[in-house]
Amino acid sequence: MGVFVLGSINLDAVARVDDLPRPGETVAGLSLELFLGGKGANQAVAAARMGAPTRLMGAVGKDDSGASLKVKLAGYGVQVADVAELSGAPTGQAHVWVSNGGENMIVVTGGANMMITPQQVAATALEGQRVLLAQLETPASAIEALFKAGAAKGGLRVLNAAPALPQGAALFPLTDILILNQTELATYARLDHEPAKLEEVSKAARKLMSRPDQTIIVTLGKTGVAAVRRDEAFLVEGRKVKAVDTVGAGDCFCGALAAGLAANLDLREAVEQANAAAALSVQKPGAAPSMPSKREVEVFLEG
Ligand code: RIB
Repeated sequence: MGVFVLGSINLDAVARVDDLPRPGETVAGLSLELFLGGKGANQAVAAARMGAPTRLMGAVGKDDSGASLKVKLAGYGVQVADVAELSGAPTGQAHVWVSNGGENMIVVTGGANMMITPQQVAATALEGQRVLLAQLETPASAIEALFKAGAAKGGLRVLNAAPALPQGAALFPLTDILILNQTELATYARLDHEPAKLEEVSKAARKLMSRPDQTIIVTLGKTGVAAVRRDEAFLVEGRKVKAVDTVGAGDCFCGALAAGLAANLDLREAVEQANAAAALSVQKPGAAPSMPSKREVEVFLEG
């Protein structure tokens, strides 16, 4: 059973710097590389590399970047028949700065990603798609159309509500599994600090639930991952690895989790597998190119 991703496709221009610049400051870049990125594309690549038949719905511009990103996606095993090439907008771009200390800053110019319509989504056949996965770099109206159509077809609706946007919260009632990081949880739950301990995370996550059958998963960086349901909460501890580039680690987690759920793993197994995949992804540069294969994750989990 497959994973259907609705999401963004970006050309990531990644500059490495010693230290991130402050407002008004100019700093020298140590290197500049171009990668396939975008939360939707990254998550689709992660799911496909974990062995799930994966379709991506999105949009690129009718330009050189759009064509080459589609070729790259297909090279990772992602089905791209639902990726439109639009003449009215350029391919999305992300300007990413990564410091030697591993911190990053990202500016995304959405371009064609923002042109996806609910009508396009509603016209798509979703038969056989076990997991429907979306993020917030495409219009909320399109995600709403996907989740409404998906519910009728029995698909599991997974929303990675990143970046944190006010319109994201309106999608929570349509969602079966919500994935957030600590910062996003604090924003949506209107907290004045980022919760860290499982008890505090659970309390904040439950504030966002609107149905008893919802699950909220919170990625907690080095601490690990918390999974919260109405009546239970558990923590899968983070794995100690040396991070080279954390851009796309959250996307790796989401895509790998979707692949695990599509393969009928139970929630804890799927979270453990996705946690291991994300730990492997931070050890390589780039977002999409750092997604590990299923075999690499299995070896890591055995070791
Ligand atoms: O989550 C990382 C991604 O966010 C990058 O690949 C960039 O394109 C932005 O969408």
